[in-house]
Amino acid sequence: MRIDILSLFPEIIKGSLEHSIIKNAITKKLVSINYHNIRDYSKNKHKKVDGYQYGGGSGMVLMIQPIYDCIKKLQEKRDYKNIIYLTPDGNKLNQKICNKFSLSKNIILICGHYKGIDQRLREYIITDEISIGDYVLSGGELAAAVFCDSIIRIVPGVIGDETSALTDSFQDNILSEPVYTRPENFEGLKVPKILISGNNKEIERWRDKKSLERTKKKRPDLL
Ligand code: ADE
Repeated sequence: MRIDILSLFPEIIKGSLEHSIIKNAITKKLVSINYHNIRDYSKNKHKKVDGYQYGGGSGMVLMIQPIYDCIKKLQEKRDYKNIIYLTPDGNKLNQKICNKFSLSKNIILICGHYKGIDQRLREYIITDEISIGDYVLSGGELAAAVFCDSIIRIVPGVIGDETSALTDSFQDNILSEPVYTRPENFEGLKVPKILISGNNKEIERWRDKKSLERTKKKRPDLL
């Protein structure tokens, strides 16, 4: 998978994708993440990338030209089926959407700022619009980092223990079960006996029951 990220502040994203599972995915060459500073594509002599809104209104809008030129340059080299804009009014990200994008070959991500990007990009160039939740961030960078993390970790081959990604919360529209590790008894707080019984069938049954209980309690809307 190749991801190209267009942003005014790529540094915000870079730091969060250089560790742990995502770092391994990059080292194993299962994924490459490429950063493009939108300002580098501005044809304005002062490298301006934003302008006032036509019709008036507060807040600056990112201009079409630098973003368009950057996308065109990338498209000369390869095909992009997904050109995604991160925006609070996009489709709300969920596990199903992550699963779908984790199988993509080439993805472009566009991070907006200020009032957003010129509508013509959204109408004619962008293929998908994604929101990471009903709140407004100061830019699309953190949303891009969340999006990348959530799809890269389930790219085939990234997590060694394949079942680990498949048993994540939300994979079956159900939350995952509680987990425990050593010690078995921490100052009187004990691990449920069933988990140390060695009875795999019963353990599996217990886990399913706990998943269901947790989902009913915390997220009944999923059921
Ligand atoms: N940009 C600003 N807020 C956002 C959000 N909630 N999701 C995606 N992109 C954003």
